[in-house]
Amino acid sequence: MLAERRVRAGATASLVLLARAAVALAGDDTTRTSSIFAPVSAPADAIVTAATLALAITSGIFVVVGGLLVFSLVRFRRRPDDDGREPAQVYGSEQIELAWTVIPILIVVVLCLVTARTVYDVQGATKPPGAIDVTVVGHQWWWEIRYPDLGVVTANELHVPVSDPDAPTPTFLRLESADVAHSFWVPRLAGKTDLIPNQTNRMWIAPRETGLFLGQCAEYCGTQHAHMLLRVYVHPRAEFDAWVARQRQPAVADEAVAAGRRVFETTACINCHAVRGTVATGRFGPDLTHLMSRETLLAGAARMTPDALHDWIANPDHVKPGALMPAMQLEPAELDQLVAYLGTLR
Ligand code: CUA
Repeated sequence: MLAERRVRAGATASLVLLARAAVALAGDDTTRTSSIFAPVSAPADAIVTAATLALAITSGIFVVVGGLLVFSLVRFRRRPDDDGREPAQVYGSEQIELAWTVIPILIVVVLCLVTARTVYDVQGATKPPGAIDVTVVGHQWWWEIRYPDLGVVTANELHVPVSDPDAPTPTFLRLESADVAHSFWVPRLAGKTDLIPNQTNRMWIAPRETGLFLGQCAEYCGTQHAHMLLRVYVHPRAEFDAWVARQRQPAVADEAVAAGRRVFETTACINCHAVRGTVATGRFGPDLTHLMSRETLLAGAARMTPDALHDWIANPDHVKPGALMPAMQLEPAELDQLVAYLGTLR
């Protein structure tokens, strides 16, 4: 008993620790909600409305059926003075049978119509002129994010402008996969949409509030599926334009870290990673041109710090078991130079 209680206390403590770590990573003292019941974007609004109606109706059914069941159990329970005879049997009642056939049909029809309308509203939305186009490619285990019209390539952290409901500037996403099925899900912005190999899916978001919204790959895609997190930064328009302008710049070429740059450009790093303005043009891994402008590393699993970068490059499989980045077996001095170089890619 005592042992069991201790195990339970231990489990609770580690859950609390995990939750705290998640909150700390979100970069805020307050708990950052990812609740589907706190929507800040048009598709999520429509989904919550439909879901709330379905929940209200099914809760009503639960209360009625559960209430009748409890009432019958209590009212007609066995009593000490029962004479043991069978109660009067009722065979068939047109009214009751009609009621329990017609009412459920009506409920199902209402739910079908509301659902169809919601699906039509979300999937049939047309793209207004001011929309932002983004291509998101799912990889094991990170998100490639490309803005084809703006000439920006980044990873894991999607930046979009806020969308004024009166003059919407939504972001339309083309979803593709480089390997297996993934699923793009930021609960406060929209429903889930899968990223499937050899198929293009589409979805859109129109966030009406600025801020950071967290999401997660929602389709099991291998060992590190749980560490395939999503961060969506919604900016005021001017701030978004400034972000785009910074991301369009070529990589910083700082002479002070020339040694590290040489390490980077003479190892296999450049086969998988791109740094615009250098010989590195790989596309298998994340674009590193503005690596340090991102707040997180490892698809949201760690804060972007020189120490975290150092540990990751030294032994990727230890930090994120199963990760497809190989350990480069660099000398300690080379590793330090490389991390110093990467640290200048703002
Ligand atoms: Cu990608 Cu789960």
